Amino acid sequence: MHKNVSSVLISEDKIKNIVNTLAKQIEKDYNDKEFIMVGLLKGSITFMADLMRKIDLDFKIDFMVASSYGSGTESSGKVKIVKDMSYDVRGRNILIVEDIIDSGNTLNFICNYLVTRGAESVRVVTLCDKPSRRKVPFTPDYVGQVIPDEFIVGYGMDYDELYRNLPYVGVLSTIKIEKRSDMIG
Ligand code: IMP
Ligand code: MG
Repeated sequence: MHKNVSSVLISEDKIKNIVNTLAKQIEKDYNDKEFIMVGLLKGSITFMADLMRKIDLDFKIDFMVASSYGSGTESSGKVKIVKDMSYDVRGRNILIVEDIIDSGNTLNFICNYLVTRGAESVRVVTLCDKPSRRKVPFTPDYVGQVIPDEFIVGYGMDYDELYRNLPYVGVLSTIKIEKRSDMIG
């Protein structure tokens, strides 16, 4: 375990089980439906890379980058799209892949944005969900694991851009809440 991680919240084995379960649900739901899988960079990369390889359907992939302005471990309500999808979203079924949903600000904004731009449907799969922290109502369609109000890192998730490479999800032991101009992905 990394020295700055106080406990492992989701082990590598557990992540594998979660990914397999989510992939089966998605396969069943999108069986006869075309869709584009859209990862929110950067946090979703590890989860998306594993999840997409377990879904035995034909689909395209794309990415978006959203920033949520705030400081330290808090996001503010001001979400900005830094990089949009490269495909035209009109009439398409979109499956967004996210690492974690916290305040709900990011996903609430992005889902509304994609619907406004003419998406046929927008669904969200997230590895982790912290529903106790919601500031705006948001319910993801597929959830890997509901977690308590802890700041977690690993398997794509960062604190100050570090720890994304950890192969498990762990609780950060000491959080130095520093002023940051924005939080990206
Ligand atoms: P939101 O508050 O739901 O808008 O989440 C914004 C973004 O903050 C998420 O997509 C994550 O990238 C990041 N985030 C929220 N909670 C955590 C956490 O516990 N660890 C790492 N990143 C987090
Ligand atoms: Mg993220």
